Amino acid sequence: MTASGPESAAPAAAEPTAFYHYEYAMEDLPGFAAVLAELPALKIKPSTVDLAEFDEEFRADDLRSTSLAPDGAEYQRWRAALDTSRRRDFHLVNLDSHTGHEDYEAYYAAKIRLVGALEKVFGGDVRLSGNLWYPPSSYRLWHTNEDQPGWRMYLIDFDGEFPDAEHTSFFRYQHPETGELVTLRERPRLARFFKVEQDPDRLFWHCIVNPTPRHRWSFGCHVPDTWLDAIAGRS
Ligand SMILES: [Fe+2]
Repeated sequence: MTASGPESAAPAAAEPTAFYHYEYAMEDLPGFAAVLAELPALKIKPSTVDLAEFDEEFRADDLRSTSLAPDGAEYQRWRAALDTSRRRDFHLVNLDSHTGHEDYEAYYAAKIRLVGALEKVFGGDVRLSGNLWYPPSSYRLWHTNEDQPGWRMYLIDFDGEFPDAEHTSFFRYQHPETGELVTLRERPRLARFFKVEQDPDRLFWHCIVNPTPRHRWSFGCHVPDTWLDAIAGRS
């Protein structure tokens, strides 16, 4: 489901896709023109990353685990049997681990401006939490982020459109009440909000998969609890 909000400038009518997940087209959000303007400098492919080497680390069985319910017996068995010497929770590139390349300075300056633009929108502290490049066939396996509770926003973009809306990257979560796996297909210039909880009964298990030939980027940050009021013009 998408909160497109075509009738009004402030997308106050946004419908949550679950009780603590919301997503919007960035262009529908007030103040996000300044955010969109930074994307070209943020969506970098550091020349220090060897993509051939990256591809060699792809594991089909890791990818398959994203189709299993994380509280299910099959997932638990797979996880327990993993050889810990090669156990990896993700197959992606952390942009902030690559500083010695020609795009870094412009990227860093864009990050500073991005935080400024977001703090203006939300009227409070915004802290970047993860700037990630998901090349083709990449993934982040099931996890909860429970060590960092609170509202999170991810800005997601790609190097092009998906020709087929059924074959895209996706965000998948397990609904803490129903146990249902919910798969949210992605598209360019998406802003996703979700709340990370620590209560064992409300852990937000989620994973991200880019099984496409497109390059995907996500810029995550902690946003104030009042974020929804801010974008709906209620603060
Ligand atoms: Fe996460």
